[in-house]
Amino acid sequence: MRTILETLNEHARRLRQGRLDALFASPDRAADYTIEAAGLYFDHSKQLLDDDARQALLQLADERGLPAKIEDLFRGAEVNPTEGRPALHTALRDPLDESGCVDGRPVGPAIRDTLARMASVVAEIAGGSWRGHGGDRITDVVNLGIGGSHLGPQLVCDALRYSHSDGLRVHFVSNVDGGDIERCLRGLDPATTLFIVASKSFTTPETALNARSAQAWILERFADKAAIASHFFAISAHPQRAIDFGIAPANVLPMWDWVGGRYSLWSAIGLPIALAVGFEGFERLLAGARAMDRHFRTAPLARNAPVMLALTGIWNTNFLGAETQAIVPYDDRLTLLPDYLQQLEMESNGKRRTLAGDLVQGQTSPIVWGGVGTNVQHAFFQLLHQGTRLVPVDFILALRHPRSATPHHDMLVANCFAQAEALMVGRSLDALAAAGTDPALALHREQPGNQPSNMLLMDELTPETLGALLALYEHKTYVQGVIWQINSFDQWGVELGKQLAARLLEELAAGSPAAHDGSTTTLMARYLARGPRR
Ligand code: F6P
Repeated sequence: MRTILETLNEHARRLRQGRLDALFASPDRAADYTIEAAGLYFDHSKQLLDDDARQALLQLADERGLPAKIEDLFRGAEVNPTEGRPALHTALRDPLDESGCVDGRPVGPAIRDTLARMASVVAEIAGGSWRGHGGDRITDVVNLGIGGSHLGPQLVCDALRYSHSDGLRVHFVSNVDGGDIERCLRGLDPATTLFIVASKSFTTPETALNARSAQAWILERFADKAAIASHFFAISAHPQRAIDFGIAPANVLPMWDWVGGRYSLWSAIGLPIALAVGFEGFERLLAGARAMDRHFRTAPLARNAPVMLALTGIWNTNFLGAETQAIVPYDDRLTLLPDYLQQLEMESNGKRRTLAGDLVQGQTSPIVWGGVGTNVQHAFFQLLHQGTRLVPVDFILALRHPRSATPHHDMLVANCFAQAEALMVGRSLDALAAAGTDPALALHREQPGNQPSNMLLMDELTPETLGALLALYEHKTYVQGVIWQINSFDQWGVELGKQLAARLLEELAAGSPAAHDGSTTTLMARYLARGPRR
């Protein structure tokens, strides 16, 4: 008997020989391959997928135990066994739910307490009762964090830019490149600036160095260590480390080991979001994610948006041979979405061992990349239309835009839909000949089409629809991890580079490189000769 993987490979061989647009011969295709959930409209009809192949993908999901694994996620089972933890980001968006437990204890009370603390911090800072050391009102908040302690909060703050509270600007410094913090602080006044040191582990060297530089900047102005308490907050799953670092205990908000860094914007790591858009805006973001969670937990697999988004990705990666996944929001407010999804998907699913420790057969996470439309039409879309690779695209668009005049929005929307159509239908030599194109030139103008895409629409980009969109991709990532039988919640691969960097840093401090490979030793010697010490 054929295995499900053999069946899927056979469907892929069959479908690859046909045309994607021919699948629309079925009049119901657009409706059949569209799912509406939590304010999102997910059209996956432009995937090179028919009913038989879809059914086989659903069977694969079933064989990999997906329904039970979805329950495991919500119930707080140890879905991250290499670190011995659950991943309960869904509990963060459902603080009244009592079912999420860690070590037999419900997590709801701690989540509710922390939300209450966040609400009062926001009220004090945005309301102006919180004062800097010199008695001034805070006008600027700088988040110091990297990876999950940066990308999600920055994306959300940027996406909700029209809802920002008056009088409070939120900035982000993530890179250890001193130019990053220098550029941010150049325009700010220490007397009116508040820092949030965001680090789940509180051991991340880049964030620690930026925090030390920020402390020095405050102390340069006030020359009084007591000033730190008025200008620094910290968020960490290890509050004592933040206190040891010098943050006032009352200013340390908790998050927890059972929240993965890249899934943490819903925790106190989201404080900059709440400061930017108000605590109510943050609650609306949580509500949107919660609506997607409920859909994910209860909808049948075939009508489940995160599941089908994941399965279209599995189809393209594992059966049609796509190496990458392009993310193209047609919305300037979502410019940072590809960066955020790079960490979410590639740090979660860039793995080569199954949970059982075997080498994975086939590919895991595709390379996630992208950019904002229409800009990218004038950059990399040429490759999508006439290059040699299969590149699936996720298009993301809000149907209404509060600040974009109708002629602008009509043109944006027309371009978004047109690109998806053009990628699918292409332009054949026959069509070019019929239009009278010179045959030699027609060879260069031909576009093969057959490039698959998803279209994700929302009526408006609001805190709710944004929350739903991010939860959709979180769950997509988890579902793919289940299909690949990997752990989506650890990231051991980042360790070695960190360790080597620490060793090289010591060698730089000592002024002499130890023995490395010839290239590294030469690079180190060159830096020591020409870098800032010379
Ligand atoms: O890159 C590794 C990583 O641990 C990410 O998973 C995480 O989001 C980032 O570093 C920052 O970690 P922390 O919040 O502990 O500073």
